[in-house]
Amino acid sequence: MTFMDLAKARYSVRKFSDRPVEDELLRQVLEAGNIAPTGKNNQPQRVYVARSEEALAALRELTPCTFGAPTVLVFAYDTEAEWKNPLEEGIHSGPQDVSIVATHVMLAAAELGLGTCWVNYFANSKAESALHLPENEKILLLMPIGYPAADAAPAAAHNICGDLEKTVRYI
Ligand SMILES: Cc1cc2nc3c(=O)[nH]c(=O)nc-3n(C[C@H](O)[C@H](O)[C@H](O)COP(=O)(O)O)c2cc1C
Repeated sequence: MTFMDLAKARYSVRKFSDRPVEDELLRQVLEAGNIAPTGKNNQPQRVYVARSEEALAALRELTPCTFGAPTVLVFAYDTEAEWKNPLEEGIHSGPQDVSIVATHVMLAAAELGLGTCWVNYFANSKAESALHLPENEKILLLMPIGYPAADAAPAAAHNICGDLEKTVRYI
């Protein structure tokens, strides 16, 4: 599969089967995240794999967007480890680093036949306390991951993009 085929085939899965993700496959997608570039290679990402009933129940309380997945990845970053731009006060790499890591994971999962959905619909501070994260860790997104249900399908908006001319400017 070419990269473009993979990028087009990936979609937000919002209905999962209860088939657990094999440890080996999970490890492969986590490894794909682990090789992502990060600011100064500081690797501030902290990825929590929620698989216990307790952790999954806590996440279900926080958002309707776990979609029955047997595993939910919680992507956070360590504010003490993220790169801080010395030339611009307040510009830190954590959210960008984690976004790249999560994107690697999402695409690696799709290549292996696993579904994911990027989820921001939760209260970040509530999630950080519910999951007992240390003070210096901030959650950026949740990602249910698993085998798509037999009747899972892309939403109508999948791969509907505006023209390149609307989003790209040559300067
Ligand atoms: C930053 C971000 C936040 C998102 N948050 C949610 C969310 O909370 N719940 C959800 O169901 N989908 C969420 N999505 C998925 C988008 O709705 C989806 O990627 C978009 O509609 C395109 O559809 P596709 O992924 O199927 O191609 C999010 C995606 C991104 C990139």
